[in-house]
Amino acid sequence: MKKNRLDKFYNKTVDDRIEALMDGNYTEKTSVEKFKKSFILPEELANHMIENQISTYQLPLGLGLHFLIDGEDYLIPMATEEPSVIAAASFSAKTIRRAGGFTTEISDRVMIGQIALKDVENKEQAIKAIENTEEKIIEIANDAHPSIVKRGGGVREIKVRWVDADVEHNTPAFLVVHLHVETLEAMGANMINTMAEAVKPYLESITKAKAVMGILSNYATECLATARCRIPVDLLERRRLSGRDVRDRIIEASQFAIADPYREVTNNKGIMNGIDALVLATGNDTRAIEAGAHAYASRSGQYRSLTKWSKADNGDLLGKLTIPLPIGTVGGSINIHPGAKFTHHMLGNPDAKRLESIIVSLGLAQNFGAIRALVTDGIQKGHMALQAKSLAINAGATGDEIRKVARALRKEKHMNLKTAEEILTELRK
Ligand code: MEV
Repeated sequence: MKKNRLDKFYNKTVDDRIEALMDGNYTEKTSVEKFKKSFILPEELANHMIENQISTYQLPLGLGLHFLIDGEDYLIPMATEEPSVIAAASFSAKTIRRAGGFTTEISDRVMIGQIALKDVENKEQAIKAIENTEEKIIEIANDAHPSIVKRGGGVREIKVRWVDADVEHNTPAFLVVHLHVETLEAMGANMINTMAEAVKPYLESITKAKAVMGILSNYATECLATARCRIPVDLLERRRLSGRDVRDRIIEASQFAIADPYREVTNNKGIMNGIDALVLATGNDTRAIEAGAHAYASRSGQYRSLTKWSKADNGDLLGKLTIPLPIGTVGGSINIHPGAKFTHHMLGNPDAKRLESIIVSLGLAQNFGAIRALVTDGIQKGHMALQAKSLAINAGATGDEIRKVARALRKEKHMNLKTAEEILTELRK
């Protein structure tokens, strides 16, 4: 990373930040105005993306800095409305960079399509019929979407699951057929839904059962991404706290987030602060990632933290996050939304596995930032500076007034809108 250009990035004006990106060759050289316009979604496109479109809804897009992932530097575009998220991610990434950065492992990118069958007369015979015709089922599914097969993907295997009837919840037994599909660079929702619907009649005919539906499963257990980091304690010192103390407190925080669901949800929400911001900025489906992440957090039967922090034999702090990441680099709104095209470009047009590495590392950084703050200074200290800015804007401050009102506000005993308005009135006198 060319540090000189991005130094004190947060202190620069927006235009100067864009100039710095262009000067440092982080993005193509063009005018600041043109750069800004390249993120705007034209009305014409927006109207084709959804129904009953009336406008577009904007969010701030910022950059997570200092990320070193598998030996490569990244500036991470993040779309978020929440103050402190980007600052926390960048601050964490800076520490982890000094510790050697993140390392990641990405599984094969296999997505699951399910066909649910009910009223199965003979369980064993139905399962045997499916197993005996696996090749035929794969052929029907692949024929429904031949272009993915031509590109080297398609259905890899079939798995059969039996879900017992449950008297308490009044649910019948289901025979569930899973298509395991390699979707290459796509998230593959449309492709999988087409395949699952195509095999439904055949499955009904061979099992003599009734197909309830054929649909993608967002519980993407065959598309997992893991990020790890290892931080020596001397990088963890914080004011009067030794690095060992901070490490031990982070581990306690992690244990709390494995033991208590009330904490686990907040811990995982913090992880998703980063993950959603990047998933959204790259034109991917935030709801799919959220739903899959929380289901994965519950895989043991209890909802738990997605991250784990522990102590290495030599005393280093070890961090790990594993999460299903069925994202894509093509398809959906990715090739349509100009902002998404630009964010992919800013990341160096990574392939889907690389994008997963970046997303999962960001999630781990976000969690590290939150719990390091929580067990040392608390998070309010950092939040207050941004909260003051947001109150200043709410009070009507513009331009340089925002900084002045925010600074004065932070010295006040009660930081609220009324005080911000009073400061602004006084300033304008
Ligand atoms: C706030 O959006 C996220 C945190 O609450 C996460 C956490 O507590 O780990 C700070």
